[in-house]
Amino acid sequence: MSKRIGVVMGGLSAEREVSLNTGLGVLAALQEKGHDAVGIDWKDGTSLAVLLAEHGIGVVWNALHGTYGEDGAVQGLCTCLGIPCTGSGILASALAMDKVMSKRIFESNGVPTPRWQLLPGRGDGPADGSDADLALAAWSLPLVVKPSSEGSSVGVSVVEDRADLAAAVALARKHHGPVIVEEYIAGTEVFVGILDGVVLGSVEVKPAGKFYDYEAKYKRNDTRYLLPPELDRAIVARVEQHALAAYNALGCSGHARPDLRIDTAGNAFVLEVNTLPGMTKTSLMPKIAKAAGLDYGTLCERILASAR
Ligand SMILES: Nc1ncnc2c1ncn2[C@@H]1O[C@H](COP(=O)(O)OP(=O)(O)O)[C@@H](O)[C@H]1O
Ligand SMILES: [Mg+2]
Repeated sequence: MSKRIGVVMGGLSAEREVSLNTGLGVLAALQEKGHDAVGIDWKDGTSLAVLLAEHGIGVVWNALHGTYGEDGAVQGLCTCLGIPCTGSGILASALAMDKVMSKRIFESNGVPTPRWQLLPGRGDGPADGSDADLALAAWSLPLVVKPSSEGSSVGVSVVEDRADLAAAVALARKHHGPVIVEEYIAGTEVFVGILDGVVLGSVEVKPAGKFYDYEAKYKRNDTRYLLPPELDRAIVARVEQHALAAYNALGCSGHARPDLRIDTAGNAFVLEVNTLPGMTKTSLMPKIAKAAGLDYGTLCERILASAR
């Protein structure tokens, strides 16, 4: 008898709603393919270990996003319970979620990433960001200020005017962990879909505003998605090579979706690797897979097969 699949969704992070959308899409697709799959909505105040036991779950299809789901915590719980879980393992998940650790690993593996500086996080630096002017005196603008372990562009600012720097640092400081300041890469943005260590393809993302912020990701629909990218093929090949190098450097497995910025000269810089990218039917990862000949249901099954 095959193991019962638990599509774990919701969770305790700020990305709960997005995760529910991912989970419900995946659940429907797996059930349509004839799998014994149930949805597990992990809510605040409930124990995931108890929920998995109550439903007799033998394998977890991890549809969570953000803290606990994406950072290695759930992967660790599943490991302890002896339940295979889709996606990257404990260490790769934790490293990918932490942008400081990711950037250090990228740099030590020759994976290009934007030049950066670290500022103290909440509690360690002034809440109003008044240290930023002095700390960043040598940097020219624009700069990008972001928390080290959020997602969905939460707490991210592009600063074009020095007068706005302190407020951007103060905003990033509201979140957990140190604050990252990066040089702003003017140009375009490409997301690469990877499955089991193989690049499926990529999509060029052109937000209407100056960066791909929370509103552009979830609220508005004025972002253009170019699949395949409009960029020169040689540049796309290099982008995909760097994306795969980033995935490998962090030790990722299963599916993942690195984010890269490409400057006007065609140089690619890895911003981060998303180890649990959005997986609703209309998310970018399924769109990339579809263009590579993998329909949504098959992609969900291939990810299921990656459970370790
Ligand atoms: N160095 C940068 N140069 C230009 N744009 C950036 C840079 N860093 C982040 N951005 C913009 O902010 C968005 C979110 O940043 P990212 O590092 O991917 O964090 P998140 O985990 O919130 O997605 C990116 O998709 C991009 O549009
Ligand atoms: Mg991103």
